Amino acid sequence: MRYLILSDVHANLEALRAVLAHAARKSRDAVLFLGDAVGYGGAPNQVLELLRGLKGRVVSVRGNHDRVTLDASQGVVFFNYHARRAVEWAAGVLTPANRAFLKRLPQGPLDLGDGVAICHGSPADEDEYLLTEMEALEGFRATRAFVTFFGHSHVPWVFELGTDGERLSLAGYPLRGTRITVDLHPDRQYLINPGSVGQPRDRDPRASYAVYDSRLRRLSLYRVPYDVAGARRRIMAAGLPQVLADRLLHGA
Ligand SMILES: [Fe+2]
Repeated sequence: MRYLILSDVHANLEALRAVLAHAARKSRDAVLFLGDAVGYGGAPNQVLELLRGLKGRVVSVRGNHDRVTLDASQGVVFFNYHARRAVEWAAGVLTPANRAFLKRLPQGPLDLGDGVAICHGSPADEDEYLLTEMEALEGFRATRAFVTFFGHSHVPWVFELGTDGERLSLAGYPLRGTRITVDLHPDRQYLINPGSVGQPRDRDPRASYAVYDSRLRRLSLYRVPYDVAGARRRIMAAGLPQVLADRLLHGA
């Protein structure tokens, strides 16, 4: 099976369009969406309509921004000021059909079989960031899949769990570059972040996505330039904080 993996689109229509155009010629059996369709960006309805219109099998989990957009009162607990402004605005403009679609997104993790699972933050908790090896160890305890794809941190990253003689070995490393291929070792277990389509945070402003071939156990990660100026204009036109537009320039 070949999976197209998208995460953290964050209402960035220009980035999602660029990624889908880039991925269009690659064969795929399913699309995996790891959550956060909305939040931060200026095109929540357009992004949801594009996601809803994807052809073929699509398996999705909700992100924390998807959840909080449906219940903006949670923003006080979970979000900083700018993130809260964006979900409050999105909550006010969503069409009933798009709101219903968001409501139907299940909470992860989901195990798809085929050695593949998906979640938003961590397999243990959708709001938790997997940034360190200690955090990844907790995540590995909550999934049995060979590879679990996660989002939320917006940074393309691989955690690899194996054994070194009797001892567990755990390594984490970023994926940097325009096209990176990683062959997964059949005797190890993986937590992998495909990066963010709509709000990268690894100082590379290009949109990020991945393709995973479960037969070859091969991950390919791609970075795609997109119309950042157009995405910024939408954020400003919506009256959202300038910082949300500016961070797209820097991938931060
Ligand atoms: Fe996110």
